[in-house]
Amino acid sequence: YEAQLDLSDIEKGTYPYYMLKEIDDQPAVMRRVIQEYTDSMGKAIIDPEIIEKMTASDRIYIVACGTSYNAGWVGKAILEKMTDIPVEVHLSSEFGYNMPLLSEKPFFIFLSQSGETADSRQVLVRTNELDFPSLTLTNMAGSTLSREADYTLLLHAGPEIAVASTKAYTAQIAVLAVLAKAVGDHKGLEASKEFDIAHELSVIAAVMETIIDEKMAISQLVEEYLSETRNAFYIGRGVDYFVSMEASLKLKEISYIQAEGFAAGELKHGTIALIEEGTPVFGVITDKKTAAHTRGNLKEVESRGAHNIVIALASLAKETDQLIIPDVHPLLTPLVSIIPTQLIAYFATLQRGYDVDKPRNLAKSVTVE
Ligand code: G6P
Repeated sequence: YEAQLDLSDIEKGTYPYYMLKEIDDQPAVMRRVIQEYTDSMGKAIIDPEIIEKMTASDRIYIVACGTSYNAGWVGKAILEKMTDIPVEVHLSSEFGYNMPLLSEKPFFIFLSQSGETADSRQVLVRTNELDFPSLTLTNMAGSTLSREADYTLLLHAGPEIAVASTKAYTAQIAVLAVLAKAVGDHKGLEASKEFDIAHELSVIAAVMETIIDEKMAISQLVEEYLSETRNAFYIGRGVDYFVSMEASLKLKEISYIQAEGFAAGELKHGTIALIEEGTPVFGVITDKKTAAHTRGNLKEVESRGAHNIVIALASLAKETDQLIIPDVHPLLTPLVSIIPTQLIAYFATLQRGYDVDKPRNLAKSVTVE
């Protein structure tokens, strides 16, 4: 694999940190996914054996750790919509020792940037013993999880060096979306017929660029809202909840601000007790059917002293919202709503004077269970 590395890919160039370079890489990664996995007609190109095995299965099990696990939740939303196959998402370290009751014809998808995560591998060893079909989505060709699974789809994100994962997250979601489209088309489903994946991902790439261009505004926002705080919350519903989980993981991993992502409606059932004068609460709003409810939850925390910062899709935005994102396909909003949150984590860390790329206590790839 080393032989394929382009040196410009592993050098920071003029970037102060790999993480910033990797955030900036994301529009190009989306275009690479289109190039690798769709044809000139925009049709999804995936190994037909994978499609057949998935179509024949009665349930998909996504197994992963950390950021890959958070990507898995978004993948579930897209896969279920496009393929009509139920999807479960599991933490590798839990699944390994407390295996849930499985369906009759399970299909396993392992998400792993490095392809070397021991917690995920031990599940794969077990599912291989049980002879269940498996697919690994990884950034590393020839990695352990790639070699030991029946099938592999590469992320084509280029080397990710910063410990905090950014472009692997968006690449995982993009590749899962192509996979969902391919299975949906194979089953002749209406939802996937209307899903022009190549076009939608190219829109995503362009929107990512406009958000990345707003870096300085995001940096200012971070200075205003996060410079003093010890904790912060992200809230949202549906895919906005899944993005909140990843956004808060990013923030705590590198800036050491204690951050939690919550289902917006659940906040009032306990966590709201933690809201104090000045606690930053980020609301992620990209879904029309839940926007009003999440805004209601933001009101509740505001009246208890929280400083709200809203990340909203343009069609759902209010003038007072701090971060407004151009509209994209409703199933793919996490690919763009995550970008400001990556930059928020980056600037919060920079402003606190910590090493963005090498947070304390964390490793890029964890090869012990
Ligand atoms: C480590 C990294 C995380 C990563 C997780 C899963 O804990 O610090 O950033 O998300 O492993 O890694 P994988 O390579 O399996 O995606």
